[in-house]
Amino acid sequence: MSVGVRVLGIETSCDETAAAVVIRDDQGRGTIVSNIVRSQLEEHAPYGGVVPELAARAHVSHLDRIIGRAVEAAGLDLRQLDAIAATAGPGLIGGVLVGLTTAKALAAALGKPLLAVNHLEAHALTARLTDGIAFPYLMLLVSGGHSQFVLVRGVGDYQRWGSTIDDALGEAFDKVAKLLGLGVPGGPQVERLARSGDPHRFDFPRPLLHQDRLDFSFSGLKTAVRLAAEAAAPLSDQDAADLAASFQRTVAEIVAKRARSALVRLRAEWPGAPARLVVAGGVAANREIGAALRGVSEAAGAELIIPPIPLCTDNGAMVAWAGAERLVLGGCDGLDVAARARWPLDSADMGVGHAA
Ligand code: KG4
Ligand code: ZN
Repeated sequence: MSVGVRVLGIETSCDETAAAVVIRDDQGRGTIVSNIVRSQLEEHAPYGGVVPELAARAHVSHLDRIIGRAVEAAGLDLRQLDAIAATAGPGLIGGVLVGLTTAKALAAALGKPLLAVNHLEAHALTARLTDGIAFPYLMLLVSGGHSQFVLVRGVGDYQRWGSTIDDALGEAFDKVAKLLGLGVPGGPQVERLARSGDPHRFDFPRPLLHQDRLDFSFSGLKTAVRLAAEAAAPLSDQDAADLAASFQRTVAEIVAKRARSALVRLRAEWPGAPARLVVAGGVAANREIGAALRGVSEAAGAELIIPPIPLCTDNGAMVAWAGAERLVLGGCDGLDVAARARWPLDSADMGVGHAA
């Protein structure tokens, strides 16, 4: 009897060194059999942000061991894998090269297919692994590097409805955390501080909000928080909490408004399809944003899906799953496939069997 496909996934595009083994059965159901993530938080903490060169070196130091642990925890031998998948971009190029080169070496040595996975596609398909949902669905990806609405029509078939024109949302959280003197990663610290703050003390601008588009802009908001912080300096603990709470409320309102518009567009363009909004990326952990999205989804009669947070942030399981989804459709990449710093999700070369 067939067990479906067993795929190793490798993720090294930012500051997580991760590997996982995922099974996709013949009915299309996914099972995570191992999922190992090593965060580089400590390496980068003294610098207040991710240092690309340090990240690449840390991936080199740890990736082999993380892969070994993932395969061992799955109770498998490397030869029992059906394919090797790795993030090939977008991301910090040094780290991407480490993961992709390792995957190529494994694929060549084992004689198994290689899948060079788009990191954004891996985020986009995660809800099919966790919740088994069908296409199409709307995805809101909000991480440290990306903020975008994407219509997920099928494997390799994406339509970007809006992106950020400047900072990503996670990046805005991280910058606000920095200016309030909080540590990294900033998002969770801003959220914690916001709990004791007054969300209505500061009235921050909401760029683009009155325009009928699905793009985001967060750099003006970040500047407004900085100016308010400078005007209130020296900041008491309460001032800092009020700034964090007011920033977070503003962001939640912006995201909710955009999600409402995106769901209206989804209904108009796909009247027969069930309306579903999937959230991905580290900012999905934010409770106020989650609550705002829940409110919008309920009002629109849409289903809101937020996968478990460890699968919203960077991990190997999502890469393995995206590889498995492409593999069963005949996708495969050559050993000469290139790593890419930039690779938009809706580019022409997202085809299932691209570079096969
Ligand atoms: O997806 P992710 O782990 O890594 C990538 O950027 O790919 O996302 C990390 C981002 C960071 O900017 C972090 O500050 C933000 O997600 N984040 C949060 C929260 N948890 C993580 N932002 C707001 N609230 C949170 N609870
Ligand atoms: Zn990511």
